[in-house]
Amino acid sequence: MYPRTMNILGIETSCDETAAAVVQDGRIILSNIVASQIDIHAQFGGVVPEIAARSHIEAMLPVVQQALDQAQLNWDQIDGIAVTAGPGLLGSLLIGTLTARTLAELHHKPLYAINHVEAHVYANFLQPAPLLSSPTERPSASSVYPMSSAASDRGSRSQDSHQPQFPLLALIVSGGHSQIVLFQDHHHYQVLGQTQDDAAGEAFDKIAKLLGLGFPGGPALEKTAKNGNPTAYIFPKAKLGKDSLDYSFSGVKTAVLRKAQELVGKDHTTHSSALAALLTEQQKNDLAASFQKTVIDTLVDRVLIAYERHHPQTVVIAGGVAASQALRNELKRRLPIDINYAPMNLCTDNAAMIASLGYWYALNGKTTDPHDLVADSSLQMHSTAH
Ligand code: KG4
Ligand code: ZN
Repeated sequence: MYPRTMNILGIETSCDETAAAVVQDGRIILSNIVASQIDIHAQFGGVVPEIAARSHIEAMLPVVQQALDQAQLNWDQIDGIAVTAGPGLLGSLLIGTLTARTLAELHHKPLYAINHVEAHVYANFLQPAPLLSSPTERPSASSVYPMSSAASDRGSRSQDSHQPQFPLLALIVSGGHSQIVLFQDHHHYQVLGQTQDDAAGEAFDKIAKLLGLGFPGGPALEKTAKNGNPTAYIFPKAKLGKDSLDYSFSGVKTAVLRKAQELVGKDHTTHSSALAALLTEQQKNDLAASFQKTVIDTLVDRVLIAYERHHPQTVVIAGGVAASQALRNELKRRLPIDINYAPMNLCTDNAAMIASLGYWYALNGKTTDPHDLVADSSLQMHSTAH
């Protein structure tokens, strides 16, 4: 028998965020701590794996303790530990998984090995705990008033209708992964399409770097694109077969590089790092806007086809790129149903989403023996249903 309410501690260290969170019944965020290393990596223009791993070691245990403190819970009140097993940077994953294994053994808690990409979708199931005067007044999942996602755009909705419904179509787009997945239910999904090369966020980051916009690139590029003309330059949208929902961003990336070289009067041998200093502000704005439009159109085209084929009840966008207002707007404009997306801090990497998916693992009995937990840097989502 499971307890009436279940508090799962989530641990996430797949990239450059050291994160821990406690989530009740897969939905209610009791705490959500994220120690970001962005300032450390920004000076190198991207995440340096060795530095990330070292920073995780320093931050991990204090972050876990903060998550328990913020939740006002002790170890006796934690029902299980969910940890990102992959994909991600191996050195970073090792710190999180080693911590989770040790804590699971020490405190005799079941352990859940979570796929980070799948967990991004669960940001859409999360809601904040109401302000409580004492920890004994913990809410049950059904007593919490919903917030979040597009719900606020839609006016009043009933509590349960806030939760995404199945079948659920998810566009998962972040710095390390990009796929379109159809969930028939928790644990039952079909990967409909994925990138053949760069992840969407990675493409944003690389073009932002070319334009000298800093790191992380996505938000900076979106800001720059606001001042540009999205049709100033026409970049190619890769087509990968008539029925395919896969996509590719290497072509558009190269096209932006070539256009930038042409605009500054240089040939294709000019290194991308030399271009930012030579481009005018307007050229940068127009390149950013035209590139962003191409990537977003590519993603939205695929989501629309998937929607028409499968008629899901809910469409969610998840992962760091889901923070893009331009992507949200375009999906809203072209899809016949509302889309769900989480607040900004839950779209990017966090441990609350890991804890949320951990709850569904717990309900399904999908535990992992601490001795068998493996950090897998290239862990895939494999279709479970066809
Ligand atoms: O999910 P996430 O925090 O980390 C990974 O698991 O990769 O996603 C980070 C990615 C970065 O590539 C970042 O540039 C991108 O999300 N991103 C955006 C925006 N905000 C973040 N991309 C486009 N537009 C944005 N507004
Ligand atoms: Zn992520």
